[in-house]
Amino acid sequence: MRPACGSSPSLASAPPDEGAIISPLWTDAHFRLLVESVEDYAIFLLDERGNIVTWNNGARRIKGYDAHEIVGRHFSVFYPSDDIAAKKPQKELEAAASKGRIEDEGWRVRKDATRFWANVVVTALRDENGKLIGFAKVTRDMTDRLRLAELQHARELSAHVQAALEDERATISRELHDDLGQQLAALKMQIAALDSQREGAGFARHSLADTRGIRAQIDTVIASLRRIAAGLRPPVLDDLGLFAAIEWLVNDFRRRHGLSIALDLDGEEMELGGDAATSMFRLVQEALTNVVRHAHASEVRIEASCAGDRCRLTIEDNGRGADLAKPRAAHAFGLLGMGERVRQLGGVIAFRSVPGNGFRIDVDIPLSGLAQDAGQ
Ligand SMILES: Nc1ncnc2c1ncn2[C@@H]1O[C@H](COP(=O)(O)OP(=O)(O)O)[C@@H](O)[C@H]1O
Ligand SMILES: [Mg+2]
Repeated sequence: MRPACGSSPSLASAPPDEGAIISPLWTDAHFRLLVESVEDYAIFLLDERGNIVTWNNGARRIKGYDAHEIVGRHFSVFYPSDDIAAKKPQKELEAAASKGRIEDEGWRVRKDATRFWANVVVTALRDENGKLIGFAKVTRDMTDRLRLAELQHARELSAHVQAALEDERATISRELHDDLGQQLAALKMQIAALDSQREGAGFARHSLADTRGIRAQIDTVIASLRRIAAGLRPPVLDDLGLFAAIEWLVNDFRRRHGLSIALDLDGEEMELGGDAATSMFRLVQEALTNVVRHAHASEVRIEASCAGDRCRLTIEDNGRGADLAKPRAAHAFGLLGMGERVRQLGGVIAFRSVPGNGFRIDVDIPLSGLAQDAGQ
């Protein structure tokens, strides 16, 4: 088959568009020029056996071959080896020949052996007697769109995993606190009752010392259990809301790590529920964990203010800071997770740091985002 010039082959399946008006000034040469100059689509013709006959700019850009390198070769060169083994190229031509047109999405291979995700339309071309004379092939590089869809999918998955993790933490925390905690408290009361019985029965006082030790141990276990349960999910977050939970968290960090933290919570305590309050709380928790782990800071400042339609949060320390231009370590997900939480709330987050000069996190979230999210 020769490239379309003079008598144009007709598209086998699609009838000519009756609405289209083509100026008589347009020649086949114009059309060829138009097709050749298209950059976003690989548009080329195959002969009836699948050998490449024409090549345009888009094909060169997407597939990497110059016309002189590829014209005359079989189009199966664009397919991955497993597709070739499965005879996919031949099957596509057969299907296009019998149906008139086929569309396919899949991996294709560039000249440099890298893969791209392609949307491909193959249309059979027939002469005026209906004899198959070749195929028109239009290929679009959809890799960016595929990546975008994958990214969106990964984000949805991460949000789902985060929510499931929170649920699980809340359940374990409740069971530890309510169930195990109450059983231990009951045990302590039983021992106390036993003691008073024994005292009543005239046992010597010094023999009760052992049970006092056991009761003290039970108290320690209860305290550990409460600490572990609160670490999983502080009850104050559900009972009294975000600001109270941040206060509790800050006191916990002051007490356990000797951190000097200035806390300034400003504005109306909002009716925040569910995911939004949890996300904000986890953000502060992760930031303070980082201060303890990495900062060696003597001072930390936390400011949260909710006014108008925005909620702002700043966490700043005067520690040794970090070089934020350095690539993220493979195992470091804290800052990434903070960014993801804020993005899910429709807000923005900024990390600022100069090595030797502290670390600062600024978060700005629209209240509409929080309200929407609340209670989900
Ligand atoms: N407050 C901070 N002060 C100094 N460096 C910090 C601070 N917060 C985070 N960093 C730096 O950023 C890196 C990434 O933090 P993160 O994503 O939370 O991962 P991880 O804490 O697991 O290392 C840390 O390894 C540390 O180098
Ligand atoms: Mg961290």
